[in-house]
Amino acid sequence: MVSSMSRNELEKFREMSVAEFFARYREVAGFSNPARALYQTVRELVENSLDATDGHGIVPEVKIYIERVNGDRSWCKVTVEDNGIGVPPTVMSEAFGKVLFSSKYVLRQTRGMYGLGVKASILYGWATTGNPVEVQSSTRGSDYIYVKKLYIDTKRNEPVVVEEAQFKKNVSWNGTRVSLIIECDWQRAKARILEYVRRTAVIAPYSDIILQTPDGEVLFFPRTTRKMPKPPRTAKPHPHGVDVETLKQMLQATKAKNLLEFLESEFQSVGKQSALEFLKVSSLNPAMKPRRLLRSENDGLLVAMVEAMKSFKFRAPRGDYLSPLGEELIKIGLKRMFNPEWVDAVTRPPRAYQGHPFIVEVGMAYGGAIQASEEPLLLRYANKIPLLYEEREDVSYKVVADVNWKQYDIEMPAPLVVLVHVVSTKIPYKGVGKESISDVPELEAEIRNGVLELARRLKRFISTREREAEAMRKILVLAKYIPEIARSLKTVSKPPESWKPLEPGEEGDIVEALVKLVARSVTLPRSHDNPGRSVEDIVRGVISEVKIS
Ligand SMILES: Nc1ncnc2c1ncn2[C@@H]1O[C@H](COP(=O)(O)OP(=O)(O)O)[C@@H](O)[C@H]1O
Ligand SMILES: [Mg+2]
Repeated sequence: MVSSMSRNELEKFREMSVAEFFARYREVAGFSNPARALYQTVRELVENSLDATDGHGIVPEVKIYIERVNGDRSWCKVTVEDNGIGVPPTVMSEAFGKVLFSSKYVLRQTRGMYGLGVKASILYGWATTGNPVEVQSSTRGSDYIYVKKLYIDTKRNEPVVVEEAQFKKNVSWNGTRVSLIIECDWQRAKARILEYVRRTAVIAPYSDIILQTPDGEVLFFPRTTRKMPKPPRTAKPHPHGVDVETLKQMLQATKAKNLLEFLESEFQSVGKQSALEFLKVSSLNPAMKPRRLLRSENDGLLVAMVEAMKSFKFRAPRGDYLSPLGEELIKIGLKRMFNPEWVDAVTRPPRAYQGHPFIVEVGMAYGGAIQASEEPLLLRYANKIPLLYEEREDVSYKVVADVNWKQYDIEMPAPLVVLVHVVSTKIPYKGVGKESISDVPELEAEIRNGVLELARRLKRFISTREREAEAMRKILVLAKYIPEIARSLKTVSKPPESWKPLEPGEEGDIVEALVKLVARSVTLPRSHDNPGRSVEDIVRGVISEVKIS
């Protein structure tokens, strides 16, 4: 007993900074091996570049260069350059040199959200090759380009700048260029990285993306449209999404003079009427000063208020500050990537989970250049980020795997692509690597609604196409015999003694009559490829071909 206690006393306790944590447990952020780390680095840099462009109404131009450095050593230099809003020089060191420092800790739909991404890459680069990150950036309207080389002091979680400079701009560029040297495995990462860039081009078809690979290839994904969705806007929190700690911070920061004003001004979906009603049912005095709730004797009241806020029927969270892609752009993206026979998309109405608004979009493509497979090819996206790893853990996979495709006249293996895009101010990712989405029931239901809606439309397309094919077969069979029948008819309709060569036009009349007869016996379903094609014309076409042969 005594000895075990003294052993416990010998346990060594110490604190670890968040930077040290991610340097040491890098696989948590997606840096489990050199291949995955290269993929993750490209991803984090590209996502920052896209946030800095389309997130601010700028049509993106993103250049990705991956080069081998140091001969046969497995080191890569990854550089990503954009034409975005740039990083102000005052925060540049921290944005790149302090883990959990971000401009995205607000309620806004962004690709980044943890304030970790680029720093996880920088920590990895520093740990594996000992090279600092190099950042060049210029904000819109600035006359200077600022350059910094830095690494992260992991013990203190602080940037250490090893070199800095500023240059007067002689070009009108604004944007950011980030270069990192990391240990990598290009051969094993190649397929994923190409797929990642391809899928990014699908979800952001208004972007110009260039990828230069260590093999000396240059891949250019030109934009197919300049049309961009409206950028996301920052929202106030919804009362259903607030916890005790958040409420405390809000009460501390508010300028509101009393609780009524506090509720009305600091939250979305709360009007004067609902605020008053809420305060009444939760026995809170509308005239109470917000900061009084923070006194320790009011702890119970505070917790009760959060509970009440969760269950009170406020208006649903607003989805109008989210930035979905829209049905048209999804279809453009899918057409470009797959050249399918059929494509469609749906943007579902905004919904909410735990006070966070979200919108689900689903796209579907069928036939054409798509390769048939046992399972539909699933393209997953969250806030315009393609998700490539952990497919089977993702809520979309669960939904798509559950669909009974037979019920929709789709026989597996089939050439079928399903795209699921979720946008939200808070995507419920399963991990900080942002590779899969948790199965939140509200989300799952919406994804299912979208997938099944498109499956029904696809079923209609397939059945129309089949009826069309059936009708065409019938037309072909009947029409082929019309010239022959016309010749026979003209003979059987007269006694043998008056058989003589046809008068001009006589056989033609019979043919015309037969064409009309066939046309009446066949109905061709309307489809979007052949709106209003006349059966008579098709029959005449077949006859003319028969005569030629
Ligand atoms: N290419 C870029 N253009 C503009 N700002 C950037 C860029 N890259 C990074 N930043 C800034 O640095 C911050 C930190 O980036 P990061 O560590 O990837 O975290 P997150 O993207 O989650 O915020 C971002 O919030 C952004 O303000
Ligand atoms: Mg980021």
